[in-house]
Amino acid sequence: MSDLLSTFAERVVRWQQAHGRQHLPWQHTTDPYRIWLSEIMLQQTQVSTVLGYYERFLTRFPTVKDLALAEQDDVMPYWAGLGYYARARNLHKCAQTIQNDYQGQFPTQSQVLATLPGIGPSTAAAIASFSVGERAPIMDGNVKRVFCRYFGVYGPTHLRATEKKLWDLAHQVLEKAPTDLSMSAYTQGQMDLGAQVCTRGQPNCTHCPLQQGCYALAHQVQTELPTPKPKLKQDERSCHMLIWQQGNHVLMEQRPNQGIWGGMISLPQFENQANLKQFLGHHGTMLTQAQQMASFTHVFSHFKLHITPWWIKAANAVYEPKANELWLNTADIAEAALPAPVSKLLDGIWAADQLPLN
Ligand code: ADE
Ligand code: SF4
Repeated sequence: MSDLLSTFAERVVRWQQAHGRQHLPWQHTTDPYRIWLSEIMLQQTQVSTVLGYYERFLTRFPTVKDLALAEQDDVMPYWAGLGYYARARNLHKCAQTIQNDYQGQFPTQSQVLATLPGIGPSTAAAIASFSVGERAPIMDGNVKRVFCRYFGVYGPTHLRATEKKLWDLAHQVLEKAPTDLSMSAYTQGQMDLGAQVCTRGQPNCTHCPLQQGCYALAHQVQTELPTPKPKLKQDERSCHMLIWQQGNHVLMEQRPNQGIWGGMISLPQFENQANLKQFLGHHGTMLTQAQQMASFTHVFSHFKLHITPWWIKAANAVYEPKANELWLNTADIAEAALPAPVSKLLDGIWAADQLPLN
């Protein structure tokens, strides 16, 4: 066991230096601000998507001070399309905390970083290891997969007991690793190995530096590890969206803070037709007055959303929006930072001139 532990980090580093990713824009910088931004963007979004956003964001907000002094509304457009908008709000909050409580000096110790908004222990360790080479282990989704397979750790990884085992192993690996280990290569190497070799589905074991001593390879249980989380949520969901047009305004609502569109402005959304009908009933209108439009599907990384839009043109009663609702001028749709399928839907409608504006 101790042999498997003591050579793990070195093998990952050697592999990273020969085969890992070397040219990502957040590599080869030690600026914790730039590293932090990349790690937050990469938390739930893949590298290819992040690249463009990352450059635009840094051009607009080159330092943590620029970000801290900006208004939240100035920041959101630079995030629109990345999803999980609580990340952007925390990002802004974190920048302000650093500006106010740390004199604008970005912390680099993982213990300090982990206390800041939006930075969990693994992200804190990634920032600290990339910026100052701190010997702090990471444990994100990709790394959990590698560790579960290599060390033969069973149990769904979101459970505390499994998490603790994995973190303990990660600390033990670092304790046994050479003192001159390149921490940036080790951290990046674990991420790269998980993304490129020890992937979900069929890992490419023949090109893996961890073949020797790998539990999953030896026992041919690669597809059984990590133990899958018992399925709770469905992979496909459906909803109804209402396009309530009144003159040149459309009714919008602010989404609850949770979920992929947390806190964003979107079209009123209903789980089923009965809820839509009830909403319309409350507002003096009937479902029969609404026109059902063609359904379409928006594909997220974790699920598909089937959307059925309904259009209603309110002729008479002027509806007073509730606290979480607003009338959006159709001229402002392009700038409203709406969820991608919603702006696609509205753009399509207005571009095709399907809805008369008056
Ligand atoms: N995902 C999270 N952090 C990353 C990094 N530094 N490089 C590539 N993918 C990542
Ligand atoms: Fe993953 Fe295969 Fe490498 Fe084991 S040998 S760590 S299962 S890629």
